[in-house]
Amino acid sequence: MYEGLLKQYKEYLPITDNTPMISLAEGNTPLIPLHSLSKELGINLYGKYEGLNPTGSFKDRGMVMAVAKAVEEGAKAIVCASTGNTSAAAAAYATRAGVKAYVVIPDGKIAMGKLAQAIIYGADIISIPGNFDEALKAVRDIAETEAVALVNSVNPYRLEGQKTAAFEVCEQLGQAPDVLAIPVGNAGNISAYWKGFKEWHDKKGTLLPRMHGFEAEGAAAIVKGEVIEQPETIATAIRIGNPASWTLAEAARDESKGHIDSVTDEEILNAYRKVAAQDGVFVEPGSAASLAGVIQHVKNGKIKPGETVVAVFTGNGLKDPDTAINATDVKISKMSDLEEMRLHLRNGVSEL
Ligand code: F0G
Repeated sequence: MYEGLLKQYKEYLPITDNTPMISLAEGNTPLIPLHSLSKELGINLYGKYEGLNPTGSFKDRGMVMAVAKAVEEGAKAIVCASTGNTSAAAAAYATRAGVKAYVVIPDGKIAMGKLAQAIIYGADIISIPGNFDEALKAVRDIAETEAVALVNSVNPYRLEGQKTAAFEVCEQLGQAPDVLAIPVGNAGNISAYWKGFKEWHDKKGTLLPRMHGFEAEGAAAIVKGEVIEQPETIATAIRIGNPASWTLAEAARDESKGHIDSVTDEEILNAYRKVAAQDGVFVEPGSAASLAGVIQHVKNGKIKPGETVVAVFTGNGLKDPDTAINATDVKISKMSDLEEMRLHLRNGVSEL
């Protein structure tokens, strides 16, 4: 039986005899071949579907490790700032480990599914008028003076847990892909993947990918080389103007001979709709930044024909139903008559 990341990758993680082996059976997510998009783009494209983690995002990988270490070190409470997914994961793993979770979120800028999760898992939810960057600054200050463990990705155990996704990609493909495409928000995940690819290569000779990270254009601090005071994007997960792991992300880009570029909200929404409608994979808007970037890089030659590309789909589309409904022309035909339905189907099918 698969028992989660701490057991699965024990010897690659900072686990001691005193680390509680908590688990919601996170990790072990599918690498889905995207047949339609591969054909259209002329590459071998896969989606690493992190939306199938227990709380619906990649955050579970880092959170299981960070919460286990916090408990090992005696914490009774954890705290994080979040655009939504981190708070859902923190709340779930805190419950699992028997500690309390405080989550600080930007008022009105968190997708409905994520808020619902924090509520139902029983977190203490604090909403602030500012954005994620301000929330992160606040919790960093608070964790200095209060008896709470900070579980944002500035906590190094988070990246340790998250690097396991790179291990899985190598195991699933047999080696690293040519390109790993990934959304960039606070920049922890791109840094974690790069660490994971390097460690797995050192042990197993699985080679190294080029890391292609993508920020939303209205929040593209690394691309522009400056802090964005008022970040804006439809992809609220990555609405971050001062990434905490900025330097690590640049190192991942440079060491791997990759790129960090930006994608517009229009490119994000286009990719978001395409992967659902063409390949049957529903991801959240922030996750679609990786695919939007792949499409852009195929066009401008930064990805070459025939290359193997893994796009990380960081979160599940169900997290943000409002965006799904607003991003498409919803066509629901109201019918109560069986004959009317029959005709509707008959006409439709005859056109196929
Ligand atoms: N994709 C999703 C769905 C996310 O929730 C996040 C970050 C990212 C990508 C970016 O990852 O920050 O490691 O570069 N969400 C954080 C949160 C900030 O609070 O849930 P990153």
